[in-house]
Order: sequence, then structure tokens, then C-alpha cells
Amino acid sequence: MNSLVLYYSNTGNTQKVAQALAVELGADLAEVTCDQYLSMPGRLLMALDVFTRRKPRINVLVPHDAEYDLVVIGGPVWAARPAPPLVAALESVSFGRAALAHFVTCNGTSPKWPPERAIAEMESSSDMVPIATHIFREAGIGSGAYRAEAAGFAAELQAALSPAA
Ligand SMILES: Cc1cc2nc3c(=O)[nH]c(=O)nc-3n(C[C@H](O)[C@H](O)[C@H](O)COP(=O)(O)O)c2cc1C
Repeated sequence: MNSLVLYYSNTGNTQKVAQALAVELGADLAEVTCDQYLSMPGRLLMALDVFTRRKPRINVLVPHDAEYDLVVIGGPVWAARPAPPLVAALESVSFGRAALAHFVTCNGTSPKWPPERAIAEMESSSDMVPIATHIFREAGIGSGAYRAEAAGFAAELQAALSPAA
């Protein structure tokens, strides 16, 4: 199975999870970057985008000639919604005939800011229904438990796409 893990990460949590998923799936790894957020005014722009839902300019380096069976796309939850660069990627990247799966990383402890809302918005940002979704929480990322969680999610994806499924 030819797979791609595509991610946006601002502080490194999603990058760790994406790397672990790519290893488990034997997948290519590609990063969505957002240069506009890297400068000092960029931090203000980032905060503004969270609430106005403006989509920032992003860069995505995906191998042009690659045809994937599966694309797994993930990023952080900001204010109970997917980070704007992640929405920009979902809306602008063409996934060809690949099946799609979503994941988010989050703090996940405040009932006021639930990651489930972000997962639901990711689904509505693309015309493709994901075959599976997963929420990774900071506690598991900090403790290292995310590696086993990533292995479980990868196995779920492989089973969903196996011929017998
Ligand atoms: C601006 C901002 C808003 C956030 N909002 C939420 C939230 O609503 N719910 C939540 O569970 N975590 C929230 N978090 C925590 C991040 O989702 C979490 O730390 C995530 O793993 C960061 O991913 P990254 O390191 O790949 O950027 C927020 C973090 C930031 C910086």
C-alpha cells in the first residue's frame, strides 16, 4: 500500500505523531508549512486567523508523480477547531484516488474546547469522507504512549484498506 502522511505542526506534537504513523505505515511524510506564522507579527496573525477562520498561505511539498492509496492528514486543534493551515491543506491539496484519514493532536482536557469539533470540521472541509479518524492527546505524546496509539491507528487503516475488508 502506497501511503502519505501529511501534517501541519506548530510546536512539534503533530510532527512526532506523523513521524510515528509514517514509520508504522511505511509511508512518505510531507509537511504543510506556513511561513506567515513564523515571524513576530505572524504570531498575531495566527491568533487572528483562529477566530476569523481566514486561511493562510501554505506550502506543501508532496512528490508530484506519486499516486497514493492512502493519505493521512493531521494537525493541531486550536480553539476546538482544526488549525487554519490544516483547513487550507484539506481544501487545496488534491488527493487523487487515495482514501483519506484524519487525525488531530490536542490538549484534550477542557470540555469547553473539545477536539471532536475539530475532527467534525475537518470532515466538512473536504468532499471526501475519511475512512478513520483519531485524536492524539498531549498526555500520551508527552509520555511516549502515542507510539503504541499510532501503531493501533495504522493497523486500523491497513485493515480498512485490505482486500478482505
Ligand atoms: C492557539 C492554540 C489553541 C489551542 N486550542 C486547543 C483547544 O481548543 N483544545 C485542545 O484540546 N487543545 C488546544 N490547544 C493545544 C494544541 O492543540 C496541542 O498542544 C497540539 O498538540 C499542538 O500541536 P503542534 O505541536 O503540532 O502544533 C491549543 C494550542 C494553541 C497554541
